Amino acid sequence: MGEFVTVTTDAHGVATIRLDRAPVNALNPQIWAELREAGQVCTDDNDIKAVVIWGGPKVFAAGADIKAMRAMDFQEFFAAGGGLQESFKTLARIPKVTIAAVNGYALGGGCELSLTADFRYAADNAKFGQPEIKLGLIPGAGGSQRLTRLIGVSKAKEWVYGGEMYDAQTCEQLGLVDRVYPADEVYDRAVEAARAYAKGPYALRMAKKAIDEGIEMDIDAALRLETTLFTACFATEDQKLGMDAFIAKGAAEFTQR
Ligand code: CAA
Repeated sequence: MGEFVTVTTDAHGVATIRLDRAPVNALNPQIWAELREAGQVCTDDNDIKAVVIWGGPKVFAAGADIKAMRAMDFQEFFAAGGGLQESFKTLARIPKVTIAAVNGYALGGGCELSLTADFRYAADNAKFGQPEIKLGLIPGAGGSQRLTRLIGVSKAKEWVYGGEMYDAQTCEQLGLVDRVYPADEVYDRAVEAARAYAKGPYALRMAKKAIDEGIEMDIDAALRLETTLFTACFATEDQKLGMDAFIAKGAAEFTQR
């Protein structure tokens, strides 16, 4: 697809969004655009049923490209309209299950990229952090918001104010990382889990929407959203397959329709 970001889909409907910009997958404006395109492809292509985001075996992403940013002024950033954040919104809104498989550093925009996924599977050598403060910045691609929702206000402040790095085990205790695996296994484990989700019912999309959109609402509105989406499940083929299979004491083969 792009020069630095590719999307490949396996026979099980699992797409891998792969970043490849040596040496550290620094996120320059071209990658912002390519990630947005990749997110759109994963959203639109019905043959894609689950997604893994991977930066390769050495590093997930060391953040926005500091050298490119140093050359940009206020007007250029203003005109870019939060370009990286917009790309990450496209990724976060992929209506299918997404897993970030993290080897090595996930810093700044790299950590924020992992936060767009439903789950983070980390290598035991992975390191996460929001070091922007050391550059005189704050996180600019969702870090102050998605991180806070995941690990809580005071922990997020500690991360953003301090700019330190945290290892995979610490991140697992905080609830930021969902699984820790040996470095050479993490991608395969993420694909394996994504394949299991790819066999799941259309209701997975409803569940993602209910949780991701509901958390932004007051509780009454969120519960109304849940009722709407719960009811909408009855319009799917998979709800009938799932219930018929239960009654027949078998297992459903879902169609994601
Ligand atoms: N942007 C541009 N280049 C980067 C980079 C980045 N984010 N991170 C590393 N590089 C470059 C280095 O400059 C170096 O290039 P040269 O070989 O040309 O000197 C090369 O990648 C390798 O880096 P190091 O020599 O530093 O390698 P290391 O193994 O000692 O350290 C690292 C690796 C811990 C990732 C370290 O490079 C580092 O701390 N990088 C910066 C991380 C950071 O601050 N990220 C936040 C960026 S701001 C942001 O992301 C804003 C936002 O929210 C959108």
